[in-house]
Amino acid sequence: MSVIAEYCPEIKVTVVDVNKDKINSWNNMDCSKLPVYEKGLDLLIKKNRNKNLFFTTDIKKSISEADIVFISVNTPTKKRGLGAGYASDLKWIESSARMVSEFACGHTIVVEKSTVPVRTAELIKKILTNSINNDSNKTFSVLSSPEFLAEGTAIKDLENPDRVLIGGEDQSAIKQLSFLYQKWIPKEKIFVTNLWSSELSKLTANAFLAQRISSINAISSLCEPTGADIKEVAKAIGADKRIGEKFLNAGPGFGGSCFQKDLLNIIYLCRYYGLEEVANYWEQVVLLNEWQKKRISKLIIESFFGTVAFKKLVILGFAFKSNTNDTRESPAIAISKELIENGANLYIHDPQVSEVQLNDILNEENFISNRDNCEGSWTYTNDLDRAFRNADAIIIITEWSEYLNINWSEMSKNMRQPAWVFDTRGIINESDLFGTNINFWKVGKGFLESS
Ligand code: UGA
Repeated sequence: MSVIAEYCPEIKVTVVDVNKDKINSWNNMDCSKLPVYEKGLDLLIKKNRNKNLFFTTDIKKSISEADIVFISVNTPTKKRGLGAGYASDLKWIESSARMVSEFACGHTIVVEKSTVPVRTAELIKKILTNSINNDSNKTFSVLSSPEFLAEGTAIKDLENPDRVLIGGEDQSAIKQLSFLYQKWIPKEKIFVTNLWSSELSKLTANAFLAQRISSINAISSLCEPTGADIKEVAKAIGADKRIGEKFLNAGPGFGGSCFQKDLLNIIYLCRYYGLEEVANYWEQVVLLNEWQKKRISKLIIESFFGTVAFKKLVILGFAFKSNTNDTRESPAIAISKELIENGANLYIHDPQVSEVQLNDILNEENFISNRDNCEGSWTYTNDLDRAFRNADAIIIITEWSEYLNINWSEMSKNMRQPAWVFDTRGIINESDLFGTNINFWKVGKGFLESS
């Protein structure tokens, strides 16, 4: 919304939320305290807030004045009830649609921005149509325009998207939304489709991206025992234009709030429509991702002859990828859990993830099984020198640029022997470890000699 406000100064953009604390944070004069860390966002907010960009809890007034309402709420995987563990929870979509139906005046274009299962627009339309029956002054057009931005590069992705989708039937509404986007996006990048294609394209894009990561991670495990190098393989296959070079970095498995959720959603939809084989096909992408995390924690434990109890292991990076403080579904969570349950003492460092965030995840009631009898522990650290002191292993989980500058020959002197580095992102050059006495494992390359 801040990008719309930036490129459409004549349009008033109002962001509403029922959560007062959240809105207060978005209104915080200190833009370093915004609820989301995203490069460039603070500058846009500083520039446009209270000019044509507003944050408020006054939902009624904002909706009643709006010509276009974007529904951009969470659609997490359902934890209970029908479809639990797979289907998306649409309760926030539903309650947003109910608010729009209640407070809208005149004609309102309602745009589905959240990632939703195919045919969610039908639910929104139904809720809105019911309110029309009670009030003949209200009319609605429902469009789908999913968001393809990635965290960490959100502003750049929004300013220069590969494409924008508008799915719908009402040509006039499509034209209005298209005009809005055209303020900064070339017309040929705006694709108009039917509602259902637009909804399904978003899920499919994420499923294909996730599948690509599971594919490269699967091959990484085959590289390790055979002597192949995943970086060389990725470069070789990526040079084929039909495959393309992007999204071929092997790692500890994909994280983030979207890939797994959207895959589970597709799997649920396929089973709903009786497409069991298709569901199983996509489920394998999720299972491979789980397996990649498991095999990494297992090989770490096995490197210490089957026990990491009382070992000091330093986790470098807890965010699901670099340039974000988001930890949702981060591979660091599963790997840390496994290591703590095996008795390790973890020292966790991340340039953006706070101790409070770690506390919420790692100290959650049932996070560690049999916690009372568990010898493992975790400590937050923002001091790499202290973390490395007497450490048995360094485990790189997020590819923060900070970790590229570690002076391994200096740092290794403070580590306990036999010392290990496990590079799950493949960002460290073997040559940086020469002469250090550090044992080294790198994803897609395996165990390497360091001296
Ligand atoms: C993803 C999509 O890339 C966006 O297009 C989409 O809009 C967004 O989900 C969404 O649905 O909201 P995001 O989850 O922010 O964006 O992050 P990605 O850059 O896609 O990374 C996802 C995960 O894959 C991360 O854990 C990342 O480290 C991992 N990854 C990515 C790899 O392991 N290897 C790669 O080569 C690329």
